[in-house]
Amino acid sequence: MVEHECKRDGAVPLDDASTTEVTLQDCRFTPIVVNQQDATFTLHTLHTAYQMCVDRYGYLIHLYYGPRTEGTMNYVLNFCDRGQASQPERVNDRTYSLDSLPQEFSFQGMGDLRNPMFVVREATTGAYGCDLQYRGYEVIDGKYGLPGLPAVYSDDAKDMAQTLKVILHDERLDMDVELLYGVMPTYDVITRAVRVVNKGGATIEVKRLHTASIDFMHGDFDVMTFFGRHGMERMPTRARIEHGSFSIMSRRGESSHQYNPFMIVCDYDATESAGQAWSMSFVYSGNFYAAVEKDQFDQVRMQMGLNDELFSYPVAPGEAFVGPEVIMTYSNEGLGLLSQNLHRVIRQRVCRGYWRDRVRPVLINSWEASYFDFTGDSLVELAKKAKECGIELLVMDDGWFGHRDDDMSSLGDWYPNKKKLGGTVAELAKRVNDVGLEFGIWYEPEMISEDSDLYRAHPDWALTVPGKPKVLGRHQLVLDMSRKEVRDNIFQQMCGVLDDANVAYLKWDCNRSLIDIYSRDTSDQGRVLYDYVLGLYDLLERVHERYPEMLIEGCAGGGGRFDAGMLYYTPQIWTSDTTDAINRLTIQAGTSFGYPTSTMGCHVSEVPNAITRRSTPLFTRGTVAMMGGGFGYELDITKLPDEEIDLIKQQVGAYHETAELVMNGRFYRLVPPETNRLSAWEFVADDGSEALVSAVIIDVHGYGVASYVVPRGLTPDSSYVCKETGVIYPSNALMSVGFPLAPIVVPYESYQFHFKRVEA
Ligand code: DGJ
Repeated sequence: MVEHECKRDGAVPLDDASTTEVTLQDCRFTPIVVNQQDATFTLHTLHTAYQMCVDRYGYLIHLYYGPRTEGTMNYVLNFCDRGQASQPERVNDRTYSLDSLPQEFSFQGMGDLRNPMFVVREATTGAYGCDLQYRGYEVIDGKYGLPGLPAVYSDDAKDMAQTLKVILHDERLDMDVELLYGVMPTYDVITRAVRVVNKGGATIEVKRLHTASIDFMHGDFDVMTFFGRHGMERMPTRARIEHGSFSIMSRRGESSHQYNPFMIVCDYDATESAGQAWSMSFVYSGNFYAAVEKDQFDQVRMQMGLNDELFSYPVAPGEAFVGPEVIMTYSNEGLGLLSQNLHRVIRQRVCRGYWRDRVRPVLINSWEASYFDFTGDSLVELAKKAKECGIELLVMDDGWFGHRDDDMSSLGDWYPNKKKLGGTVAELAKRVNDVGLEFGIWYEPEMISEDSDLYRAHPDWALTVPGKPKVLGRHQLVLDMSRKEVRDNIFQQMCGVLDDANVAYLKWDCNRSLIDIYSRDTSDQGRVLYDYVLGLYDLLERVHERYPEMLIEGCAGGGGRFDAGMLYYTPQIWTSDTTDAINRLTIQAGTSFGYPTSTMGCHVSEVPNAITRRSTPLFTRGTVAMMGGGFGYELDITKLPDEEIDLIKQQVGAYHETAELVMNGRFYRLVPPETNRLSAWEFVADDGSEALVSAVIIDVHGYGVASYVVPRGLTPDSSYVCKETGVIYPSNALMSVGFPLAPIVVPYESYQFHFKRVEA
């Protein structure tokens, strides 16, 4: 670790603090370069570079995020008289204004009147504003961590990760703002986090804290975001960035079904395989804000961080406040490579633990099989039929605890309904194990029903606003997870069941938004939503630590909390409550822009589908569900005819053959479902040795043309044999003209092709 003080003239007084050179894929480069001459900090990954500089007035200016390059990019700055622009008083120069210069950490108070990342208020005087000037930096080996918060981690032996900490300082408040940069060279990823440290004698209030921004000096860009609702998550939407501000956010206490905390800015003509694209992913599961703003000078600011609604965080003298991490990546080969970068880093350096690299068991879940209407005996029958099909794990979903037979009661009473189960959870788990299946269980740890013993004993543990009518969601209230005693109680209750029973899997659900924001534990209500999320992470961490080999699947009324923060604790997440295969094409393709398909829970369910009433063939439901690493079934298979059971046996077998490829392969969106005609996708092994191409026909027009699928990412100048057809294809032709799909036999026909490279 090297620490340096800044000189007031803006020169960075060091010459030896750059990290050592690394060699990756025959390229030699230095992950962090500190250049004294130009006062620049440059971050290098294998294919990208990111640069900022300290200017002559001590402000930190963003210069560049793009393809890897050497050199100094301060030539991108332009200075001219901007008319009515303001300057800090010590700057006697009309051509200089923070309102037009690209900022590395924009703050309210010195004349940048665009959308700021940081707003601070002095608690005693109530005065807003600060003047953040460069103070120093540190270069630290390895990737920083954030105590209590999820973050990308590094494997020091393999990743050559480095951390740059740039320290900004406000003299009046005696406040440091530490900008943390994690450089992940092999992943083409740069992460950011922010620590606000109060070194002064009076409390300060953080009114807004965004973690990352990129200021683009010029360019015609589109912005992509992912909107949705319960049952229809992460619909891709793309729009031209025009003058003004466009934002997405969550004010629901969870990252939300409505907008995912993930944003892409790309060249207006970028495609899956061409053009520049930049993305930000928030490693946080609560309220967020992400925006793009095109300003008066046609410059674009992209930013992401905590939502400042219902937020005001007091930082007492000597304390610090942390803005959660943002993962950034850049691609100049279109949206496909951008997604692949994110898939790799999230799969390998956000997801953790025993299940990170392991193929997950094929499961059957009781929810769409029987909802609340099950008994221990009926689950054992389901397990027996599942065993016949080759399914490996039975999940007992909602309805096993307290006296819960519908959604009106018992959340918070995490002890088994022995009458319904015919015994304890441990006994039922053993019965299922005896059939030959692993056993899994459902929890909704953050929630409480008014009709529960826990609520009767501790009504004050629910988040409600005194004197105001309560807001219920699915008849339930939310527990105040910011309070340790509440978390301790739920943890102990969970241990009471999980310590004794052989539980291989846990589904962690969360079925409502947070609306009544009032904790009886604090007088600073502006901190509750943030502390709630930290409390949730604390409980997740304790469960993860105590049961390290238990597979935890996240869920929030389907995919209402599908974010990189949750993936740190739960390596897979139930993607959506809509299991209709055709709807799932868009939901899953949308999710794949920001998240590895290995993290998606995807199940085959019954037809007509419970939500859409649409019928699709069992084969197609299987094809679509096999896009996810959390593959399984969610229907009453005891009622299926023999031919469907046979098909399920074949599906489970086929899944096992390609599961490793689906977990770890490169994912390509070949034809997006938005075409409304066909959707196709592909997994390719990293070494190109095999590929799985899947396609679903969405709609047909009479006597129409054949549909072609064009695979990507195969080894050039080689040949591949298709397992299903036995045909040998030259790879160059396959990646150029593709191959035609056979005419459909049933509506919503689907196809799977497993290609293997023919070794010479
Ligand atoms: C919502 C989940 O998304 C469903 O899969 C199921 O677990 C129900 N909750 C149970 O209440």
